[in-house]
Amino acid sequence: MEGFDREVKLAPSILAGDFAALGAEAAALCAQGADWIHVDVMDGHFVPVVTFGPQMCAAVRPHVDRVMDVHLMIAPVDPTIQAYADAGADILTAHVEAGPHIHRTLQAIRAAGCRAGVALNPGTPPEAVAPLLDDVDLVLAMTVNPGFGGQSFVRSVLPKIERLRAMIGDRPVHLQVDGGVDEATAPLCVAAGADVLVAGSAILRHGSVDAPDGYGDAMRALRDAASS
Ligand code: DX5
Ligand code: ZN
Repeated sequence: MEGFDREVKLAPSILAGDFAALGAEAAALCAQGADWIHVDVMDGHFVPVVTFGPQMCAAVRPHVDRVMDVHLMIAPVDPTIQAYADAGADILTAHVEAGPHIHRTLQAIRAAGCRAGVALNPGTPPEAVAPLLDDVDLVLAMTVNPGFGGQSFVRSVLPKIERLRAMIGDRPVHLQVDGGVDEATAPLCVAAGADVLVAGSAILRHGSVDAPDGYGDAMRALRDAASS
């Protein structure tokens, strides 16, 4: 995995891809310039929908020649951490709302050899992760309530992103946003201090495995917007 820097990174979510061709989707996104590939694991319990498990992550892994960023929308988390690490995840992000022992979860993620992320839902205050900032590599500020792609960006999260950025300070901790990120909202997130932008529909609705140039165009447009 690369060293730490705060250059803006794009992490397309394969949740918005063709589920019959997720390996090819991931490969196409990598070839078109994705920095990371974001994999949304949903359990039908912490969030309403079921998506992928560790076997799907392992199947996709050989098609991802960069950081595989796995967002665990599951509860409980701890029993499956090793399986996602074995599946080849580089980053495992767990929700602070998903259980009572988040330090244990983060320690288990690092012990399994992955970088550790902690996610907060839009309604969770930034102070919820204050005691965790020395134990994580990434904070994920959800900009929608997790569970579905294609939802509208929750603007009231922006001051929280600013607050989280100040709380992180000089620590080598990424600040990621996820949900409703598009050309209009990406610059707001970056201005507030985010450095990793997850985007599903804003990228994948512009192309396909058979027409991947649209992914590249969409990613360039997002980067241009984010740097404007
Ligand atoms: C939402 C997921 C997101 C989702 C984002 O629960 O965590 O990663 O794929 O999708 P868009 O970018 O379409 O809002
Ligand atoms: Zn996600």
